[in-house]
Amino acid sequence: MIKRIAILTSGGDSPGMNAAVRSIVRTAIHYDIEVYGIKRGYQGLIEGDLIKMDTRSVSDILDRGGTMLLTARSEAFMTEEGFGRALDVLKEYSIDGLVVIGGNGSMRGAKDLSDSGVAAIGIPGTIDNDLPYTDFTIGFDTAVNTAINAIGNLRDTSSSHGRVTIVQLMGRHCGDIALFAGIGSGADVIIVPEDEYDEDEVCRRVLEGKKRGKLHCLIIAAEGAPVTCEELKTVIMEKTGMESRITVLGHVQRGGSPSSYDRLIASRMGAYAVKVLMEGRKARAVGIKNEQMIDLDITEALEIRREKRLELIELGDILAE
Ligand code: F6P
Repeated sequence: MIKRIAILTSGGDSPGMNAAVRSIVRTAIHYDIEVYGIKRGYQGLIEGDLIKMDTRSVSDILDRGGTMLLTARSEAFMTEEGFGRALDVLKEYSIDGLVVIGGNGSMRGAKDLSDSGVAAIGIPGTIDNDLPYTDFTIGFDTAVNTAINAIGNLRDTSSSHGRVTIVQLMGRHCGDIALFAGIGSGADVIIVPEDEYDEDEVCRRVLEGKKRGKLHCLIIAAEGAPVTCEELKTVIMEKTGMESRITVLGHVQRGGSPSSYDRLIASRMGAYAVKVLMEGRKARAVGIKNEQMIDLDITEALEIRREKRLELIELGDILAE
């Protein structure tokens, strides 16, 4: 019987984390389970920074970006001492179940706690969409929409000046934001960490577009692309003679009101995580596959690798012709 659970958000915040927190709190209270919110992720856990939550404490957060529980990338939690302290605090508060909302690193933290006997459940909350066991992570859809809006503005000025516009989007190891936003904004070239980079091919496409009368040229590169934006700018100037400008969209992509899709999956995943705990299942990673809620063993979930998105990469290329 689960009597008391705790929630934390960890790592990079993402739009929709609040919707997930709200859903966990209200679902748990609906089933007479007490809920504690842990501030600043694993760091707050170590420091015993917990607050009791009630249904009203999550009012008016559904549409807000960021995380009301605050977040951190805690180095102390990685140490033996910090980890031990985290276990002690969970015991002190008699927490029967912990829900962790975050990306890859945060999920690994939940896995480690599970290995030490904590009933931990992971909910994927990151704009990066870099957890391949789930089709989507909370915040990704909003980040792609934010990027698409910004790229629309950049296209106007790119066309007016006949310049090449290089846009760097977030994603150190996963190019999904660049790929989805690139296709959605009609990019001429999309460069992602998962694909090869061919300098000559990029320049050929830039020149080809110009020859065909395209006014703008949009190159979308993920943060972890195999070439930096500066290198790209230099190569384009040398090989095509065309002027270019770089925009690094940065943390703008991480904020903002969550899209309807992110609000929906966050609400579903939050409620689902509570039910998983109520059914006595532990060490699970919650996700969405073909629009259905799923939960997998957290260790197995983290081992799943995504195949290169060949279909989307090819689509981006064809549609840019
Ligand atoms: O994990 C989300 C993310 O926004 C990545 O896309 C990005 O590489 C990283 O976080 C940036 O981290 P920070 O906010 O710590 O600079």
